[in-house]
Amino acid sequence: MNIRSFLADRVRHAMSDAGIPSDYSPHVAISKKAGFGDYQANGAMAAAKAMKTNPRVLAQTIVDHLDLNGIAEKIDIAGPGFINIHLASTWLAKQYDMPAQERIDSQTVVIDYSSPNLAKEMHVGHLRSTIIGDAIARILEFRGDKVIRQNHVGDWGTQFGMLIAELEEQLGDGERAELALKDLEGFYQQAKAHFDKDTAFADRARQYVVALQSGDAKVLRLWEQFKNVSLKHSEDIYQTLNVTLNASNVRGESAYNEDLAPTVTALKAQALAVEDDGAQVVFLQELADKNGNPSPVIIQKKDGGYLYATTDLAALRYRANTLKANRILYFIDARQSLHMQQVFTVARKAGFVDEWVNLEHHPFGTMMGADGKPFKTRSGGTVKLADLLVEAIERAHTIVSEKNPELDAATIKEVSQKVGIGAVKYADLSKTRTNDYIFNWDAMLSFEGNTGPYMQYAYARICSIFRKANIDLNSFSGELCVTEPQEKSLVLKTLQFDEALEHVSADAMPHILCTYLYDLASLFMTFYEACPILKSDVDDNTRNSRLQLSKNVAQRLQQGLELLGIETMERM
Ligand code: ARG
Repeated sequence: MNIRSFLADRVRHAMSDAGIPSDYSPHVAISKKAGFGDYQANGAMAAAKAMKTNPRVLAQTIVDHLDLNGIAEKIDIAGPGFINIHLASTWLAKQYDMPAQERIDSQTVVIDYSSPNLAKEMHVGHLRSTIIGDAIARILEFRGDKVIRQNHVGDWGTQFGMLIAELEEQLGDGERAELALKDLEGFYQQAKAHFDKDTAFADRARQYVVALQSGDAKVLRLWEQFKNVSLKHSEDIYQTLNVTLNASNVRGESAYNEDLAPTVTALKAQALAVEDDGAQVVFLQELADKNGNPSPVIIQKKDGGYLYATTDLAALRYRANTLKANRILYFIDARQSLHMQQVFTVARKAGFVDEWVNLEHHPFGTMMGADGKPFKTRSGGTVKLADLLVEAIERAHTIVSEKNPELDAATIKEVSQKVGIGAVKYADLSKTRTNDYIFNWDAMLSFEGNTGPYMQYAYARICSIFRKANIDLNSFSGELCVTEPQEKSLVLKTLQFDEALEHVSADAMPHILCTYLYDLASLFMTFYEACPILKSDVDDNTRNSRLQLSKNVAQRLQQGLELLGIETMERM
């Protein structure tokens, strides 16, 4: 049930019956202030302005035609022409039984996220793309879109010549690939050092780049080995992070090799790419700087090599034409905004992507340390994502064992895993995506405020109410009767779950769902204080109604957290 769109339909009809042309939207939204109803229809003002009439009078005419009998208990007009709709509790209580509206606008959506470079291990810089992209993938899928996850890993480029040469040498000494590459970071450094001091090795590394590009079987085999071990590192992280990416979602840069030359040819044929100092360049007047100089996009170097942008253009051709996406989302650091704009602009101009396909770069800010600078290790190095996650689980372990010493060791272990990982993810997902944020262990692991542990605890608390009453939450069913204001607020909030998801899907902003869940949990706590459930003087009907309401809250908390990729538990 989506109350907002239901009301918008009713108001749209009333507007049309009031003689307002259908191009004016009813603008129905959740009321922001208490006392102004549950929803507001704000369309009268814009319509009145265009029709050159008095907005309050027009709002009254709309209300005269608005049939919300049995649905609203009151409709009033405020200010210059806001229509405030106060919903009836009796109607609200019945809405849980309404079937979900079938979406008629489902889309095929490609989501490019995580996409680490395989030359090294994943570091904290990959966290945001991985978990934000995954939350959006889950949410769009849940809402009925066909979601195609694309892990555009960096598995191509000159550094692979050096890495393959190093791998060959270590395998020659009898080492197994898994062991040689156990510490990818260290391996990279070894290869680099080797490259810098040993000219024969450096020459071989360069030859291997050429051999790789020309499809030399032996070099390709080494490259495959390297890729597989590196991918395994990432897959372990996805599993720890409870992220849905798997091997079938990997389509790395190398997958587009065959289409790079045709892409450049197509751009040359349309005279979009021109030769500049031996290189092939597309000059974009659309993205000109303040002095009017067009923005250059190099798609082929003087030596014939292709670039990051060329691969992304080929990937776009594949996503639009082969995967037949209507919407393509990229979760990539804000520092790559210009790159994405260039790629989108070139793809549009060249007709690689039809104009009805949405191309959306959803950038995000940087994760900062306490010093306000990008998050680093104490010695100033990049933090491996694997290490960060181990620390999160350890810290959660300390807190959980202190808070709940009576839990057995196996449960503490499981709870720590879910709380630690959930805390890291929630702290990130609950911040406005486009801002930088400061990474703070104590804040994210707190059981109070808008945190992962607080949300998980709110769910566990409802489970404990059912446990205390000796009732199975899943099979319980009680009839709702809504009398107290705290009950009404809570019913309304639970019914707005779908609206929150709709909003997240449109803006690709997971924090909207976090805010919704936090409000829901807070309203539950207020309700729980004001409306006793298990006390002996509470009659059966009231108790069953309140249990049902609690169950509805628990289900949404659990479902909402799952859509964020955060696990819940019945006790913690
Ligand atoms: N591998 C790149 C990096 O680590 C990110 C790739 C993002 N996706 C894309 N289609 N360009 O910076």
